[in-house]
Amino acid sequence: MNRKYRKTIIAGNWKMNMVASQVKPFADELKALSPRPKWCETVVCVPFVNVPAAIKAFKDSRVAIGAENLNENAKGAYTGEVSADMLADLGVKYVIIGHSERRQYYGETDISVNKKVHAALGAGLQPIVCVGESLEQRELGITIELITLQVKTALANVPAEKMRKVVIAYEPIWAIGTGKTATAEQANEVCSAIRAVIRSLYGARIARAVTIQYGGSMNDKNAAELLAQPDIDGGLIGGASLVPAKFSAIIDAANQE
Ligand code: PGA
Repeated sequence: MNRKYRKTIIAGNWKMNMVASQVKPFADELKALSPRPKWCETVVCVPFVNVPAAIKAFKDSRVAIGAENLNENAKGAYTGEVSADMLADLGVKYVIIGHSERRQYYGETDISVNKKVHAALGAGLQPIVCVGESLEQRELGITIELITLQVKTALANVPAEKMRKVVIAYEPIWAIGTGKTATAEQANEVCSAIRAVIRSLYGARIARAVTIQYGGSMNDKNAAELLAQPDIDGGLIGGASLVPAKFSAIIDAANQE
């Protein structure tokens, strides 16, 4: 973390978990455990159908609501899809884009991620852009090249003035839902490389201000060590974000004086 230059953001990613009636009890518990985190922004990204319940349940708190995906088109004949405007109109603030599960199961590519980033920014949403390598790619020693390409493509034609809205999440695929966390040094190395890419595209001032999260089996036990790294500005948390006590402990780790 480096609170002097950028926001620390702790974001939960519920994935396809929780039904709408579970949202309020979850919110009440989380609010009681972490009433007013001072040093970090807290986000809960929920399935589309849970968005209205989440907005209502967290209305009187500092927790912002995010979605887990969006369609890259503004509107039209795209049966079953959800646009950036629809999310923004409900009060959604963040949207996860290009999560590895979407890349793997729903054919999302760096190019579609770029289109979605533009759609989100156009509606005033803050994209949380996910990048990350597979175990095979890490073992081939091409992690940094691959991540560089993912970041450059995701940000193609994004103007400098919109960069203060963009969050990047480094999520090594081999660490997601596996209980296998990247070491703090491994995670920081890639987050720092991502910042260097942003520096090469937008200059030092903007690179210094961008929030770069780590994601992949972050939990209440390892969060403090990961967040102590200079280039890790928060977390994107799956499994542990479904348990208020664990998620709250991660928020607390981001709020150490
Ligand atoms: P995990 O998921 O914390 O359950 O590994 C992280 C993510 O996929 O965003």
